[in-house]
Amino acid sequence: MTTQDFQITLNERSATAEERERVLADPGWGLHFTDHMVTIRYKEGKGWYDARLEPYGPIPMDPASQVFHYSQELFEGLKAYRQADGTIVTFRPYANAARMNRSARRMAMPEIPEQLFVDSLEILVSTDREWVPTREGQSLYLRPFMFATTRALGVNQPADEYMFVVIASPSGNYYARGIKPVSVWLSRDYTRAAPGGTGEAKTGGNYAASFAGQAQAVEHGCDQVVWLDAVERRWVEEVGSMNLFFVYGTDAEHGGQGARLRTPALTGTLLPGITRDSMLKLAPDLGIPVEEGRISVQEWREGCESGEITEVFGCGTAAVISPVGHVKAPDMEFTIRGGETGPIAMRLREELIGIQYGTRPDPYGWVHKIV
Ligand code: PLP
Ligand code: COI
Repeated sequence: MTTQDFQITLNERSATAEERERVLADPGWGLHFTDHMVTIRYKEGKGWYDARLEPYGPIPMDPASQVFHYSQELFEGLKAYRQADGTIVTFRPYANAARMNRSARRMAMPEIPEQLFVDSLEILVSTDREWVPTREGQSLYLRPFMFATTRALGVNQPADEYMFVVIASPSGNYYARGIKPVSVWLSRDYTRAAPGGTGEAKTGGNYAASFAGQAQAVEHGCDQVVWLDAVERRWVEEVGSMNLFFVYGTDAEHGGQGARLRTPALTGTLLPGITRDSMLKLAPDLGIPVEEGRISVQEWREGCESGEITEVFGCGTAAVISPVGHVKAPDMEFTIRGGETGPIAMRLREELIGIQYGTRPDPYGWVHKIV
């Protein structure tokens, strides 16, 4: 199946330029959607069929659709950027396609050909290109997702029919008021993912299961929740829906002997972030070595107290890099770098954003041109 096979129905009620401009002036995050969406169906034995680009709108669903009962679902998230010369690009879309297929294997769902995944993004973004924001720091967030549509309540086997959909949402600069370090709550009551579970799959249930922990973080005056490993409740895994990086030492420019990074290793309970993977490649090329390993809560606290750990930040597609300034738990509380944003987080953020928006060279071939 190629882009030629998509049946195209344009939206007769697409937003006018004024309506669009009103949204783009202050899009917020994940609240507004473009004029079109992509839908593709799957049936066991038949494969992927009935690819459409059609007006954005409700999807009629049978109440017995398997996804409503047993949550056979997965999703992805990436962005389209408008570069200074007007080119519209996405960032590492084949990495998202590969991750969706890894998630699909874990959730006993069908894999989608990587090229069909990328073609779907291209057809949607090129049709709705006027929705790709021009203002600094804004982008068009793309949300591909897949769910089970089989009409059956039996739980002894996976569904045999699915739907793949892509929608797009103009998103504002996460840091419209400047980068402000977040405060985090170490959850001791709830865990996000256990060994053998679905933590490394991007499936909706992981997020549903995280809301109680996130609500507890907010009750304690924190912005986000930090997830610890489910077995020992000792090893740091992720923050909210971002991967974590710890900076040890200080670079020469700021009077130190050199900074290095550590990030929790992918044990099967963490989501393998594409931003995380990009950091693993980018940082060493900037002279900042990175290692993957285990970091305990105790090491985190003692490292901050001794000054060995100089910065901590979360990273993900939505926020890019989000410094962590303050840590709270039932039995402890400490501050990182006096709650200030550090230079390594800022440098990595600028480099990555520079590649995405085309203001810096892209030696990795990460940027994928759409139009
Ligand atoms: N961890 C979780 C649980 C996530 O949901 C996400 C975001 O999608 C990430 C990490 C960061 O992944 P990425 O860098 O691919 O956006
Ligand atoms: C991210 O893109 O970093 C996210 O955390 C996505 C989230 C909204 C699920």
